[in-house]
Amino acid sequence: MRNPAWKALLLNELAKNIKEARDAAYVSLATIRPDGSPANRTVAFRGFVAQDHADETGWESDLLLFTCDKRTEKMKEIRHDPRVEVSWWMSSTGEQFRIRGRMHLIEQGNEDLLKDHIYRKEDTSVSSHASAATTSFLARLKHLSNVLGNDQFSWEAERLRHWHKISDDLRATFTWPHPGLPYDENGTFLKSLPIEQTEKDGWFKHGDKQKQTLLEEGYSNFILLALEVDSIDHIELYSMPCKRRVYHKHDDTWAEEALNP
Ligand SMILES: Cc1cc2nc3c(=O)[nH]c(=O)nc-3n(C[C@H](O)[C@H](O)[C@H](O)COP(=O)(O)O)c2cc1C
Repeated sequence: MRNPAWKALLLNELAKNIKEARDAAYVSLATIRPDGSPANRTVAFRGFVAQDHADETGWESDLLLFTCDKRTEKMKEIRHDPRVEVSWWMSSTGEQFRIRGRMHLIEQGNEDLLKDHIYRKEDTSVSSHASAATTSFLARLKHLSNVLGNDQFSWEAERLRHWHKISDDLRATFTWPHPGLPYDENGTFLKSLPIEQTEKDGWFKHGDKQKQTLLEEGYSNFILLALEVDSIDHIELYSMPCKRRVYHKHDDTWAEEALNP
């Protein structure tokens, strides 16, 4: 089912909260370690897959997007067992969303993955909506034909879009010594890694050859995590009595149910 009710709710409540608290997009992501024990950490919600430039590309989805380094523990955990839960506290409006689902790792070339969850925006005419600036940005991205024209959504273009979009500081961290290993005294912990130019096909460039190698190395460690949602437990704490509602999927349709809080 396209655009389930919980997607609009989540985006509306996030928009209200982010005005008051910049950290409203940070969530706790719980995974299961291979030994069966729980693991949990903070990650940044980066919108829904395809949300970035959606008006111009014409795609949208119901998949929550996160990013991470390929070398982190959460990767091993998700590979071992994709079941995860996100806990999201929105303090300004007093709401908690507990989002259960399966996390998919987007590395390279998995074009068919999750295609049922990515669909054409209904009332979008790509050519009329694209501003000149955005069109030129998109024109610089790899697989442009997939982004703008073809029937198939391109995961590689999506990964590249986010590699361009993240800050220069965050981009640099993907070149750091292996996360979680003992501190590397001789390691290089670059503070910033800008993209100086973008080639016609969207590939990123840096005039300094060494920085170019680092950009390519960092990109190979840069992973998108796409969360396919199975159920959402939403509680509104500031209404008295509190309201609690669950959204769950049955045979491809979403059902909603009010619960005792
Ligand atoms: C506010 C905040 C935001 C963070 N955002 C991310 C993120 O988006 N992706 C990520 O992989 N780690 C993020 N981290 C770091 C993780 O919490 C964690 O330390 C790191 O990813 C290693 O986790 P792991 O060993 O369980 O894989 C963030 C940490 C904080 C405090």
